[in-house]
Formats: sequence, C-alpha cells, structure tokens
Amino acid sequence: MKLAILKERRDGETRVAATPETAKKLKGLGLEVAVETGAGFGARIADADYTAAGATIAPDAASALKDADIVLKVRSPSAEEIAGMKKGAVLAALLAPYTDKDTPANLAAQGVNAFAMEFIPRISRAQAMDVLSSQANLAGYKAVLDAAATFGRAMPMMMTAAGTIAPARVFIMGVGVAGLQAIATARRLGAIVSATDVRPATKEQVESLGATFVAVIDDEFKQAETAAGYAKPMSAEYQAKQAALVAEHIKKQDIVITTALIPGRKAPVLVSEEMVRTMKPGSVIVDLAAEQGGNCPLTCADKVIETNGVTIMGYTNLPARLAVDTSSLYSRNLFNFVSLIVDKKTGALNLNWDDEIVKGAGLTRDGEIVHPSLKG
Ligand code: NAI
Repeated sequence: MKLAILKERRDGETRVAATPETAKKLKGLGLEVAVETGAGFGARIADADYTAAGATIAPDAASALKDADIVLKVRSPSAEEIAGMKKGAVLAALLAPYTDKDTPANLAAQGVNAFAMEFIPRISRAQAMDVLSSQANLAGYKAVLDAAATFGRAMPMMMTAAGTIAPARVFIMGVGVAGLQAIATARRLGAIVSATDVRPATKEQVESLGATFVAVIDDEFKQAETAAGYAKPMSAEYQAKQAALVAEHIKKQDIVITTALIPGRKAPVLVSEEMVRTMKPGSVIVDLAAEQGGNCPLTCADKVIETNGVTIMGYTNLPARLAVDTSSLYSRNLFNFVSLIVDKKTGALNLNWDDEIVKGAGLTRDGEIVHPSLKG
C-alpha cells in the first residue's frame, strides 16, 4: 500500500505530517511512503532526510497522491488535492470540521474516507493520537515566550546592586492543555502567575503548579463541566459576576494569556475592551482563541496590534511557530493512528468502524458524511 505526505499550502503553515522518524516507522508497517518535494522545509527537514529514511520523493502533489491508499496532512486538502485522491483512500488531517464546512462534502463526493484528528476521542487508549493536546501544549509554551519577548520588562524578581526589579504578573485564562503549559512556563520564568477557568477540576491543577486560582466559586461553577471534560457555556449571571472579579484582577496584570475555547462555538469574550483600557501601558495579551473569534474583541487574527500601549497578539497558528517540535509530535500522533488502521501482518488497510477511535474521528465513509456532529 502507498501512503502520501503532502506539502502544506495554507499561508503560514510550516508543519508537516511525517518526519523521517515516522516515515521509517510507516515503512516498518509495510507501507510505501511518498513525500511531496519540499514538504518538510518549514519544519527544517530536507528531502534527503526522508530519502535516507526509506521514503521516495514525489515532484508534486499529484504524483504523491497517485494511487495512494492513505494520505496524511496537517490541514484540510485543497479542492485540487481532493480531486487527486483515489476512491476509497483514507485521509487523516486537522480538518477543522466545525469551521470548514465544504471539505467533508467534497471528500465524501470523491469517495475518500476522511478522519479529523481533532475528533480523536479523549480516552486513555487514544492519548498517543491526541493532536489537540500535543499541539496545544507547545502553543501554551510559545504564547508565554512570545509575550515575554515583547514585554519590556523582566519576568522574574531580580535583586541587584542597583535595586530590585519586581516580578511580572501573568494571568492565564482557560486552563486546558495550553493553559496548564502556559502556567508552568511562566512559573519557570519566575513570574507571579494566576489563572482562571470555568471547570472546577482546574482549581487544584492550577494550585498544584504554584499559581493562584481566580474564579467566582458558586453552585453553577461547581457543575460547569460536561461528561467529556469540556467547558459548558455559562449563564449570563455567572459571566457577569466572573467578569467583575476578572476586571479587578486584570488591572494589576502585566501579561494575560487567553486560551478559552468551547468546541464548535465562537470563543467566549473574557477580556473586554474596557478591561484592556485599565491595563498598564507595556502590558501584553496573547489570545490563543484568535482563530475562533478571540477571547478579546480587540484581537485581530494573525496580527500583533497595540492599543493604548497594550500589545495584543492574535496568532491563529501558534503551533506553526514551533514547527520542528509540533511536527515531530503531530507526526507521531498520526503514526499511532495509522498503526490502528493498518493490519500489521498483511500491511493492508483494516478500518474497523466499530472501534471507538475510528468511529469518533471518522467524518466520511464510502461517499457519505457519517460524523453525527456534521449531520443535519
Ligand atoms: P480547550 O482548548 O477546549 O479549552 C481551553 C480551556 O478553556 C478549557 O480548560 C475550558 O474549560 C476553558 N474555558 C472555556 N470557556 C471558558 C470561560 N468562559 N472562562 C474560562 N475558561 C474557559 O481545552 P483542552 O485543552 O482541549 O482540554 C479540554 C478538556 O479535555 C480538559 O478537561 C482536559 O483535561 C481534557 N483532556 C483529556 C485528555 C484525555 O483524557 N486524553 C487529554 C487532554 C485533555
């Protein structure tokens, strides 16, 4: 069977769906691996590195895709790429199913069985395939470094002969995978860190990382978590109380990192324009929810802006700013997924649609859109 790795074409996407390490492992599963020339450049991988790992280099996307049984990508394929895929091929990528509405229909029409890596269920058996975690972890880290690099002051307290420098105050809003890593990174840099989330379970996690938890803790808060561990939308009353508490807190912060997302919905507004106006000049906001509208209404997607001396960073693809490491983890996530769907003895495709992982991530099957969240 042939597996194809394509070069990413979306602006600013520097990641790649396989590294030489995973190309070698994919070969080990009995697959022939074809990599489109230049696919690894953004992640500092030369064509020759793939060749050394046993892959072949295809001169363009069409030849990489020709007769490929499995296609691995980072982002959704273009219409042209989809047209080059054979009927019955498997595609695994970050397909942004909630926002990119056209792609699933196009993939179904082409007869491609597509898997959205974002939908891999968060069960223990699938942890090694959890792309949301592998990418968000590094995004949380990079958000703090980006903020620290722009902030015109030091992060830790410094006692020098010329006097003492106060530590920076960093506030993390949303304590999922990215938020936890942001807390840990800001702590390692010596900042005074606080954090907030609507899920009660995060209070203990925040405190165990040496940060302070900031939230209105009432009955609604105590129940604010879905069975899947995600945040629920909060009532208008709760949001008002929480906003008042946060407004007071934000005035004293130097760096605010927002990561609050609710799957399938527009990101909640957590830092209002008024709150931004109360922040000191020189403060920095990094809005990790920029792609879903932002946690701050002033955020401009993919731009760094300054308003009243406050810098607001709206990178929509922070993982692409650390492409070497994010590609390495993403590729391993994909390899683990491919291992699940390829029979190790025969090297043939073995899609078991009764498997919770296959079913959970599957968007299209035999010409139909099958994922429940995309149907009617
Ligand atoms: P996410 O990217 O969906 O959201 C980020 C954070 O924002 C979440 O902690 C969420 O509660 C918070 N948030 C949403 N609305 C908010 C608001 N109005 N105010 C403040 N915070 C708000 O989160 P992520 O990182 O994908 O994690 C989601 C859940 O999945 C967590 O419970 C996490 O522990 C769980 N998880 C489970 C894994 C597993 O079992 N294999 C692996 C990774 C995460």
